[in-house]
Amino acid sequence: MNYDEKCQLLIIGDSSVGKTSILTRFTEDKFTTNYINTIGIDFFSKDEIFNNKKIRIKIWDTAGEERYRALTQGFFKSANGIIITYAVNDVDTFENLKYWIQSIHTNLGENDLVKIIIIGNKIDLDREVNFDDAKKYAEDNGYKYFETSAKSGKGINESIKFLVQEIIDSQDKTNNINKNNKDNKHDDDTISLDENKHSNNEKKCCS
Ligand code: GTP
Ligand code: MG
Repeated sequence: MNYDEKCQLLIIGDSSVGKTSILTRFTEDKFTTNYINTIGIDFFSKDEIFNNKKIRIKIWDTAGEERYRALTQGFFKSANGIIITYAVNDVDTFENLKYWIQSIHTNLGENDLVKIIIIGNKIDLDREVNFDDAKKYAEDNGYKYFETSAKSGKGINESIKFLVQEIIDSQDKTNNINKNNKDNKHDDDTISLDENKHSNNEKKCCS
């Protein structure tokens, strides 16, 4: 099977906010309360249909721990989409969103081809961060906001599929623009050939 659209995602955020759990829920529909911290970087993938095409969604799962940050930032440039995650029961992880947003800017500049969402995870637990404040913060930074529970599965498919859909739509749009430009270029060629013919005739007539 050919997968002609590239869909490479990256998930970032503080340690223990539930990045690996979100991806395990999304790809295998499983959840465990055991915490095994990610070492460096890990890889998940899942096939889904978008716009009548089979898409292989590939996701880099990064370690939140500080000592791996230089390594994981090397993966930013290969992503079409980034999920920034915090846990709604831990306000420190929400405060740290500014660090993660800054690290995207540092690594990608103003590359608006990369689609980005923010996820507030662990909504099955008691909150330290209010939904409206988090949504406003995300939107003020230009990102769509979602809330999830990797434990119950709530919001997981919706949020990741929203991001993939945005990427596929944007790739389809670019492909259409490229196709139209190519078609127009052929039209230009036809005109210029006619012009050449005309000028040759003129030359013949007047020499
Ligand atoms: P690093 O790999 O260290 O960066 O952490 P991580 O962000 O991948 O966190 P991980 O998915 O390993 O989850 C950390 C802990 O939180 C685990 O004990 C999970 O079971 C728990 N956890 C993750 N998501 C949820 C959730 O939605 N609800 C609850 N109650 N616990 C969760
Ligand atoms: Mg992890």
